[in-house]
Amino acid sequence: MRSEYTAIAHPNIAFIKYWGNRDDALRLPLNGSISMNLSGLESRTTVQFDEALEHDTFELNGEFQSSASLQRVSQFLDYVRRLVGSTSYARVSSTNNFPTGAGIASSASAFAALALAASKAAGLDLDQKDLSRLARLGSGSACRSVPDGFVEWLPGKDDASSYAVSIAPKDHWGLVDAVAVVSQEHKPIGSTSGHKLAHTSPLNAQRVLDAPERLKNCRDALLERDFAGFADVVELDSNYMHAVMRTSNPPLVYWEPATEVLLWQVWQWRKQGHAVCATVDAGPNVHVLALANERDWLQKALLELPGVKNVLIGEPADGARLVD
Ligand code: DP6
Repeated sequence: MRSEYTAIAHPNIAFIKYWGNRDDALRLPLNGSISMNLSGLESRTTVQFDEALEHDTFELNGEFQSSASLQRVSQFLDYVRRLVGSTSYARVSSTNNFPTGAGIASSASAFAALALAASKAAGLDLDQKDLSRLARLGSGSACRSVPDGFVEWLPGKDDASSYAVSIAPKDHWGLVDAVAVVSQEHKPIGSTSGHKLAHTSPLNAQRVLDAPERLKNCRDALLERDFAGFADVVELDSNYMHAVMRTSNPPLVYWEPATEVLLWQVWQWRKQGHAVCATVDAGPNVHVLALANERDWLQKALLELPGVKNVLIGEPADGARLVD
């Protein structure tokens, strides 16, 4: 049996967001979510279990990690060890080709790639559903980076029923995500802590209650390639999540002044007839979703706006896969 495996996975951008858990340990979400995998941006992870190791090691972008991030990887490897009844530690080495911790969901691609490389290195051959369930235990949104293209996370009721499925292949719709990066700093409050605050917002119950309607509207718009309907529901859902964040106790405010300027500008462009809309994750960067024919002028125009340091372009991408 080969003992070292390398996998690639892409981050994903959620059109309908995951925010808040019914079960934090199992990462069972309060509501379903819909996303698109992003090409161009990727995590590449190699795992090797080795009986001679005295503890797990985790190298990220060439630097050995200690404390929190090593602990999170180690805890995840415990799930894999439990599945095969092994006690071997592992060597994990990972690279991201995009900034970590700046609202570009590095944990999604990281745990999707880790789930695939680690399960293979441990001798498992999981089907897509079980791989998605495993990735979810590392980071909720990682379960959506396992299947191809446009993806829906079925919230489920328990560990067995909470996983993501592809709802359309990557070539279904020519969307681009132009990520206007306004900050590359690590965000002060990560999603894992943020999810725990969702329940403290008086708006959260309503957000969860009408999530099925937004999921349906988003799924329908996506399948019918209806950009106007898509833009409405994507912006509603993002604003709803940030309203919950801002009304949590303590409040979570991820936006920076440049975020507001970008959102305002995207709305102006749409009013002028451009097929663009915006969504923001747990960070200040603005994901501008657009039809592919808007890509070139959009990238240039975003770079000219105040506070925009860089624009990353993602297109619909495949899910997690092994590298030879
Ligand atoms: C705002 O999946 O990063 O990006 O499970 O704690 O790792 P953990 O949280 P994570 O949360 C993602 C939150 C979001 C919305 C989304 O991607 O759906």
